[in-house]
Amino acid sequence: MGGAGTQGSAGAVGFRDRLERCDGFVICSPEYNFSTPGLLKNAIDLVSRFRPQPFNEKMGLLMSASPSMAGGNRGLWALRVPFEHLGARVYPDMFSLARAHEAFAENGKLRDEHLQQWFEDTIANFMDLVESTKHYPCVKRAWIEFLGEQADAVVTRVE
Ligand SMILES: Cc1cc2nc3c(=O)[nH]c(=O)nc-3n(C[C@H](O)[C@H](O)[C@H](O)COP(=O)(O)O)c2cc1C
Repeated sequence: MGGAGTQGSAGAVGFRDRLERCDGFVICSPEYNFSTPGLLKNAIDLVSRFRPQPFNEKMGLLMSASPSMAGGNRGLWALRVPFEHLGARVYPDMFSLARAHEAFAENGKLRDEHLQQWFEDTIANFMDLVESTKHYPCVKRAWIEFLGEQADAVVTRVE
């Protein structure tokens, strides 16, 4: 993928296509300098230029892992901002795995049973919400970039 002006690249088209086929998405990301890694932000920026804008009304779950005690959680808060703007329904709970380099057992599960259960519950609860939203869509959003935006085809982000 290139810069945000090259949204027609194969990588961006593939990402857009995958988003269109799913009811919800899960992002698992490291934290770079207390924020979102540039590569991930660039991927989001690229697909955000397609119309219809693929993140709008999509359910999203955010997860992170890091060797630090914060588990990359600050990066997820930074990630919420563009997703909220793009109309994604970002799930309130997040999962951030601290001390990730020593968190896993040989069988691939987390050594801490309670943490493993929390991880599984977070995903199951998110999937329940995705499923119910698919069958009972009750919230529709009139997406506008900022109050005062004019309904001008050149500047508007309204779909
Ligand atoms: C440029 C850079 C910045 C980083 N900043 C953070 C940070 O703010 N917080 C953190 O917990 N880890 C930070 N890390 C460590 C990453 O959490 C760790 O490298 C990650 O698990 C590995 O992912 P990667 O292979 O995609 O870099 C940083 C790593 C890099 C390369």
